[in-house]
Amino acid sequence: MTKVGAPLIHVENLCKSFEDGEVLKNVSIDIREGDLDSVIGPSGCGKSTFLRCLNCMEYLDSGNITIAGVTVSRTGTEEHLDRPFLEACAQMRKNVGMVFQSVNLFPHKTVLDNVMLAPLVVKKEAPDQARENALRLLAKVGLKDLAARYPATLSGGQAQRASIARALAMNPKVMLYDEPTSALDPELVNEVLQVMKDLDAEGMTQIIVTHHMRFARNASDYIVFMDGGEIVEKDDGDVLFTTPKNERTREFLRHFTEEVA
Ligand SMILES: Nc1ncnc2c1ncn2[C@@H]1O[C@H](COP(=O)(O)OP(=O)(O)O)[C@@H](O)[C@H]1O
Ligand SMILES: [Mg+2]
Repeated sequence: MTKVGAPLIHVENLCKSFEDGEVLKNVSIDIREGDLDSVIGPSGCGKSTFLRCLNCMEYLDSGNITIAGVTVSRTGTEEHLDRPFLEACAQMRKNVGMVFQSVNLFPHKTVLDNVMLAPLVVKKEAPDQARENALRLLAKVGLKDLAARYPATLSGGQAQRASIARALAMNPKVMLYDEPTSALDPELVNEVLQVMKDLDAEGMTQIIVTHHMRFARNASDYIVFMDGGEIVEKDDGDVLFTTPKNERTREFLRHFTEEVA
């Protein structure tokens, strides 16, 4: 698919602190519609918090985030979360699907029921339509034959693919993945990464926090290097992995020289 080029995600001066201090420091970034961008960086640098702010699981302290035309913004001087802000967050969540490192499928529901649940309950879709859509998505992630299975009977890779299908069932405009393959045995990683490549070919806009540098380099439009709550550098994979501009990027990538060669 041709990349459209217009930013679907626009983040400006995003700041977020927890009790222990500032975690995101004036993060600004644009992500183009249809792009697959990978976020890399050391543990604790704020990658998960960044993704969680993008789907309003965490509320930003100040700055603004626009995704698919919906903006959430705060100045940092508000006394409380007002109603328009919370409504914008609810709208933004509808546009953003998220997948986590640890699979959290409902154990007492089949794979099919897991995928159908949110469309039935949240979107009030008709059961026939929800089922048809869920089966289509399960086929897309290669799980059509396992629709009647329970999560405990799936491999880690199958369960993570079911999680992706479940997120897709809400018809998001953006997919976010927080280390989706970090808990998987190495031989199961590729089947999950392949789903993201397939979605990329269909034009889905995706941000992936990952430690798989080879995948990041080969599959991404851009690599975003975060450190200390800041975006240090964003560049094409071939540039960032061979000639990073910043010393902090160089230092981080030294740990991965064999993997990205
Ligand atoms: N809910 C929270 N409450 C307090 N501190 C948090 C919370 N979430 C994350 N942090 C802190 O914010 C920093 C960044 O965490 P995180 O975004 O998880 O980093 P990463 O995903 O890059 O490892 C860490 O110091 C972490 O301890
Ligand atoms: Mg994290």
